[in-house]
Amino acid sequence: MSLSLVEIARAMVAPGRGILAADESTGTIGKRFDSINVENTEENRRAYRDMLFTTKGIGDTISGVILYDETLRQKSADSTSFVELLNKNGVLPGIKVDAGAKPLPFCPGETVTEGLDNLPKRCADYVKLGAKFAKWRAVIDIGADLPSSTSIVANAHALARYAAICQEAGLVPIVEPEVLMDGDHTIERCEQVTEWTLNAVFEALYMNRVSLEGSVLKPSMVISGKKCARQAGVDEVAERTVRILKRTVPAAVAGIAFLSGGQSDELATAHLDAMNKLGNNPWPLTFSYGRALQQACLKAWRGSAANVPAAQAALAHRGRMNGLAALGKYSASMEK
Ligand code: 13P
Repeated sequence: MSLSLVEIARAMVAPGRGILAADESTGTIGKRFDSINVENTEENRRAYRDMLFTTKGIGDTISGVILYDETLRQKSADSTSFVELLNKNGVLPGIKVDAGAKPLPFCPGETVTEGLDNLPKRCADYVKLGAKFAKWRAVIDIGADLPSSTSIVANAHALARYAAICQEAGLVPIVEPEVLMDGDHTIERCEQVTEWTLNAVFEALYMNRVSLEGSVLKPSMVISGKKCARQAGVDEVAERTVRILKRTVPAAVAGIAFLSGGQSDELATAHLDAMNKLGNNPWPLTFSYGRALQQACLKAWRGSAANVPAAQAALAHRGRMNGLAALGKYSASMEK
């Protein structure tokens, strides 16, 4: 029996579970491999993802995995396709469908995410390959005169067109407008830009007839710029983030799964936990982390089969910590 969009979206944000973003493009995974001196070959990329997806009990805390095109077509060492392997473990396979952030004309320093050309056909192909949901990341940069309203409107429109195309094809769209944490901006400025962005995104989703019940929002948290002198604490991040989400995100949205965006593993977990401890949120709040789930695991792996058990233990640990944070039941003492 095939699941409806609403059923898939709800399963993605089920209590105590969240999403593993393992959809690094070939270039991005190359950067991750450089940091552990592993060559960026197709076999190494396959072996790394095989290690991630064969982690025992992965489905306990991971509801879905976002894959890259190449990975969706690859197989585990025993010839089981990754899609089948994930399904067996109760994990939904998803697919990144955007073609990346490209320079936005007449807006120096800004980008618009491309990939709408041919998207209906690509979505149909991905459904045949077993994908249940998709992801599209828009990037909003904060600077002295940034973002421009041109970039906010262009990115919101592309996100909404993508989401509508996905839903028509039977895929749940993860709608990801990322406000970057790079730069020296204050948390107040991040709050203002994130609120502006989310308002534009939900207006565009409405104009494009996107079903909110069949969508998952993947926002960045409201956080101090990396180089800002005043780094807001965990409670302030949680309060500001939830405050603007309540202003901008309709309660009908199936759930909110945050990106980690370059936060440390433990801070990303602590922030999510603090938001859930606030309680009374109209939507499930969970994780869709890339780096904050994989960093420790990647370091433990270092490209060697002998390190697979240690690497899988590191991934399982972060999955457990974030699963607890999604319930507001995490504490830093559990890290030991
Ligand atoms: P990070 O959690 O590393 O930001 O990655 C999430 C993601 O999917 C970015 O598009």
